[in-house]
Amino acid sequence: MIKEIENRRSIRKYKRHEISKEIIEDIIYSATLAPSAKNRQPWKFIVYQGEEKSKLVDVMHQGIKSEKITHKLMPEWAFAIPDAENTVRVMEEAPCLIAVLNTNQKTPFDSIEDEKRIVEICDSLSIGAAIENMILTATSYGLGTLWIANTCFAYNELIDFIETDSQLTGIVAIGFANEAPAKRPRKPVADIVEYR
Ligand SMILES: Cc1cc2nc3c(=O)[nH]c(=O)nc-3n(C[C@H](O)[C@H](O)[C@H](O)COP(=O)(O)O)c2cc1C
Repeated sequence: MIKEIENRRSIRKYKRHEISKEIIEDIIYSATLAPSAKNRQPWKFIVYQGEEKSKLVDVMHQGIKSEKITHKLMPEWAFAIPDAENTVRVMEEAPCLIAVLNTNQKTPFDSIEDEKRIVEICDSLSIGAAIENMILTATSYGLGTLWIANTCFAYNELIDFIETDSQLTGIVAIGFANEAPAKRPRKPVADIVEYR
């Protein structure tokens, strides 16, 4: 097995050191090599660092604060808001955040016809493959990453800030790890496979 698959962890503590542009470009290049449904390549990546990154984190913070009061977007997920707040803290620490847009889709908070849902699922899967390439490539450079979907709690504020009407799939945080977590639990293979 590729060793990065085994060694990767979600990292929630980062050192402040910046990452070189060369490495960021290689990480994004690896994303472009992912398979995608009908080769649509429905992705766009926006790299935030420095002051722009701080602004993005602040927008996410404000969005979560307002969701905490209104529960407009994710009423049944109110219990997960503390986790989203923790994700904001991680985003503050990480020196680089890459917003991942699905250019073939719009907001996930509008309803969608069944047939279009299939296409949306395929585009989301393609983006997931691209993100996995990114985080494994980052791991090969000795970097830590966090795949973030808690952006949903501040969805509208974030897309306004990013100035896009594409779907915001999530954000990938990247930086040098300031922790070395043990492997997180996994379901045993024997429990999740059937040979017929
Ligand atoms: C689609 C997706 C969204 C995630 N969103 C978040 C998030 O918003 N905040 C967070 O702290 N972790 C997030 N994670 C990380 C998971 O919690 C983590 O992958 C899982 O607990 C297993 O730990 P490991 O990655 O170290 O193996 C996300 C992971 C995936 C795949």
